[in-house]
This record gives sequence, C-alpha cells and structure tokens, in this order.
Amino acid sequence: MQNDTLLSPLKDARVRAVIERLVEARRIPSSGSPSEHPEVSSDPFDYAEYGFSIWPDQGDLLYLLCRGMRATRVVDFATSIGMSAVYFAAAMRDNGGGIVIGSELVPEKVKTARRNLADAGLADYADIREGDARQTLSDAGGPVDFALIDGWPNGQEPSLAREIIEILAPQIRTGGYVMNDNAEPDFLQFVRDPANGFISVTLPLKRGTEFCVKVS
Ligand SMILES: C[S@@+](CC[C@H](N)C(=O)[O-])C[C@H]1O[C@@H](n2cnc3c(N)ncnc32)[C@H](O)[C@@H]1O
Repeated sequence: MQNDTLLSPLKDARVRAVIERLVEARRIPSSGSPSEHPEVSSDPFDYAEYGFSIWPDQGDLLYLLCRGMRATRVVDFATSIGMSAVYFAAAMRDNGGGIVIGSELVPEKVKTARRNLADAGLADYADIREGDARQTLSDAGGPVDFALIDGWPNGQEPSLAREIIEILAPQIRTGGYVMNDNAEPDFLQFVRDPANGFISVTLPLKRGTEFCVKVS
C-alpha cells in the first residue's frame, strides 16, 4: 500500500506529521485484536493503549469525499486515539469550517485523541464526546453529511455498528454518506434493505469497506 504525501490528497505538513506518527506507532495486542479473535477480551477498557485505527487510504477517501460534498457536520464512531477524527477535522477546516462529532468510551483515548487533534492544529474543528455512543450520538445537533461507523466487537447482536446506524440514520441528510470498517453482518443487512433509505457498495479497501449513500 502506497500512501505517502505525494499520493494523499491531504498535504498539510502538521496534519501529515500526526498521521505519520500514528501509523508508525500502530500495533496490535500480542493476544490479537478482539475483532479477529473472539476468544480474547472485548472490554474496550482493556485496550486503552491500542488505536485499531482506520488505514490511511480509508482516511484519504474520507477526506476527499468530505471535501467534494462540502461537508460541515460529520460523525466519527468511534474515535479511539483520533486517526479518523484527524482526517475528518482536516476536511472541515479545509472546507472553510465545520465540526467532527466524535464518540469514545475510554477516557484515556479521549485525552489522546484531543491531544492528537491539537498537535495537528485541528482542535477547533472537533467535539469529541466521552461516553457510550448510544447516548452521546443521539443528537448530532443538525443534519449529518457523513458518518464513519468504525465500531467495536461486542460479541452479540445487535452489533454496536447496527445500533449506531439506527441512531444516526434519521440524522443523516439525503445525499449523505456512511462508511463502515468492520462489515458487521447486521449493519450490512440494515444498509442493504431499501426500506432504510440507503444504497451501498463494498470497496476493496482493508478487509472490505462498505460505502453507503442515503438516497431517501
Ligand atoms: C476500531 S476503534 C476506532 C478507531 C478510530 N476510528 C480511528 O480511526 O482511530 C473502536 C473504538 O470504539 C470504542 N468503543 C467501544 N464501545 C464503545 C461505545 N459503546 N461507545 C463509544 N465508543 C466505544 C473503543 O474504545 C475503540 O476505541
């Protein structure tokens, strides 16, 4: 995967420095990640030091799409240490203003995400809400242009991704976008049911990234 500054649509040096630092520091627990190893703990508090962040090519796509649609209100579920939030916040700034509403359960991660956003010069474009996204995202404060659903394996149905899309769907404007990182089956079932107002496609990014457009 090539993803250097020349190829990325996001050129700002201060932002790139944070992204590159996060990419270099990326690691997974020795026991494996809970999304791929159902036998390990899935308690988010056991993973305060691990980002499980989106890949830079997913971030580039988020940034580019937000720029193209002139997005000004976007939702980041979940925020972890702030990789996806940095891409979103950069797009808000470069669009001339806007806000990324993030949600993260683990307080240490909220602190790290806020520090990373500040290091990137983007603190004014982010509202990272600490707590359970099922509460903190119940009201994004207005029509949402773009939502990332990058959830967490809770080992049950409904998945968190499914619960969050149901909370966000009524808040996403017609023409708005949703990206999903983990292909939770019950999330896919929701966005592929025409009754819920979305059309979607699986992109060949990471293990399969679902990209959805709200059409009604
Ligand atoms: C895959 S990571 C998100 C990575 C992030 N999008 C990035 O690119 O850096 C998922 C995050 O969900 C958080 N989480 C788990 N359950 C949550 C909940 N109910 N509400 C909010 N955040 C939650 C975990 O602590 C974890 O940091």
